[in-house]
Amino acid sequence: MLKIKNFLIFLSFVALLVTINQVAFSAEKKASSELTRLMVDIDRSYKKSEAISGYYDYSDEEWDILYDSGTVVSRLTKEVQAKYGRPDNKKYEDLMEAMRDAAQKMADIANKKRGKDGALEDVQWQVRKLRNSCAECHRLLNIHIYPNLYPKKKHRREEGIFKDWGKPD
Ligand code: HEC
Repeated sequence: MLKIKNFLIFLSFVALLVTINQVAFSAEKKASSELTRLMVDIDRSYKKSEAISGYYDYSDEEWDILYDSGTVVSRLTKEVQAKYGRPDNKKYEDLMEAMRDAAQKMADIANKKRGKDGALEDVQWQVRKLRNSCAECHRLLNIHIYPNLYPKKKHRREEGIFKDWGKPD
């Protein structure tokens, strides 16, 4: 009798462990998919300034695009920093801050210096710094965001890899 009771206690213990595990796993999945969504939004905004980064002159509308793009990327990056910081990884934190800084500077230049001498060069320099931050962080984490550039690598989403981005594959 005692043995059966012990066995039942053991069984409910196992069930409890399994439940805890599942809850933790789905929380992790949710966190990771929100980070993905933020990154996709960053990407969408970033591409608008990237698309005009080689121009020799900017119209007012184009300065507005640079202003919006910088503002949105800076705001979204702050959200990523607040929610998905990695205090254990200084390089990651520095690159995240480099992304925020370049985006903010783009917005500031578009806001205060548009039309003035050197503003075009200054803003294009920040777009480059922004692009470098993307590339360097993704290299650090071994993330390939544009699968067409890496035909041999499967896109992370196809592989369903969302939580192992911290370790190189
Ligand atoms: C400091 C690190 C860091 C920087 C800087 C960074 N990213 Fe990311 N990026 C990540 C991480 C982490 C992921 C993976 C998120 C996940 O788990 O899905 C990611 C994933 C992505 C994805 C793939 C989302 C998907 O569909 O799976 C895109 C697109 C992306 N980043 C765009 C950008 C762009 C554009 C920039 C620069 C303007 C940038 N990232 C800068 C860390 C960074």
